Amino acid sequence: MRTPLASSPTDNPDGPPLILDQVSVSFNTSKGPARAVNDVSLTLAQGEILGLVGESGSGKSTLAFTVMGLLPDGARVDSGQIRVMGKDLYHLDPEVLRDFRWKGISMVFQSAMNALNPVLTVQDHIFDTLRSHDPNITDEKARQRMLELLDLVKIDARRARSFPHELSGGMKQRVVLAIAMVFNPPVLLMDEPTTALDVVVQRSILNQVREIQAERKMAILFISHDFSLVRSLAHRVAIMYAGRIVEITASLGKSDAHHPYTEGLMRAIPELSEDEVTISGIPGNPPDLLHLPTGCPFHPRCPVAFDRCRTEVPPMLQVQGNLVACHQYSRSGEESDHGLE
Ligand SMILES: Nc1ncnc2c1ncn2[C@@H]1O[C@H](COP(=O)(O)OP(=O)(O)OP(=O)(O)O)[C@@H](O)[C@H]1O
Ligand SMILES: [Mg+2]
Repeated sequence: MRTPLASSPTDNPDGPPLILDQVSVSFNTSKGPARAVNDVSLTLAQGEILGLVGESGSGKSTLAFTVMGLLPDGARVDSGQIRVMGKDLYHLDPEVLRDFRWKGISMVFQSAMNALNPVLTVQDHIFDTLRSHDPNITDEKARQRMLELLDLVKIDARRARSFPHELSGGMKQRVVLAIAMVFNPPVLLMDEPTTALDVVVQRSILNQVREIQAERKMAILFISHDFSLVRSLAHRVAIMYAGRIVEITASLGKSDAHHPYTEGLMRAIPELSEDEVTISGIPGNPPDLLHLPTGCPFHPRCPVAFDRCRTEVPPMLQVQGNLVACHQYSRSGEESDHGLE
């Protein structure tokens, strides 16, 4: 793997299932390196759904690919450490990592349902995944596991021989979820799993995810640009802006945002008042990753920015139970230095 990550001496299998410690990732572009993930620290506890939200291009998928060890050519982990189930992911033997990728951690990719192989049936997809990591599995066992998985995601067993084009979008997404669950991984990454679906189907799939998660006590990183959807599903939400985590919150009410960017995202959620729908977004655009602003990356769009915001990157501070990277809280004195949470 193309990573100069520091190796760590201790593997603690009883710690949080997923730990990211100061992870930074860049893409090589013809105009120079673009920093897509910047100094990200996050932990995911057992049985927790952590939402990851941010505008398009904020680095959510890049972060997920980094955690899977599946960055494309031209991308590089510049620094940091990732531990999945206590294992230092970037120092695993490649063979072990290949196996661990399904059995320890798996991912539902953005637009995965459109990537199902059109010439394979539902059962072929599941059998292929099973056999690629468990070549000696008997036909009977494979069939049994497939039926369990279809039951888990509420697909009628009669659909096992259907091809992708014979399935609705919601069903295809359930198949993708079943494939990710083939080996019951303790950590699951879901990248915009319901974005292409209508609201009713979306809700039913999210209920499914909630049920599976409660039953299996998995740790799920749930990526979406839809704050209102994530709020309804996750135990905590991390908000990403220009590659950085700017706030982590467990209290998901509208008044619980502390970072000006999070406040902006909350305002962008449609609010049904007496007889009108009010939406107000965040003026301006996210920065060009080739020319990131100095200091806080949000300062050019921030309504409360002051001098320090233009020169210093704000540290994560604990503010009323949230973690917030914003200088206005160090100014008010309502702070305590905080590292990895
Ligand atoms: N292969 C690549 N080469 C160069 N830059 C890339 C590549 N893939 C992504 N990027 C850049 O990295 C940044 C983060 O992209 P990423 O896909 O991680 O964002 P995202 O938050 O998942 O967005 P979306 O909500 O649209 O899925 C973007 O600016 C994007 O242009
Ligand atoms: Mg994405």
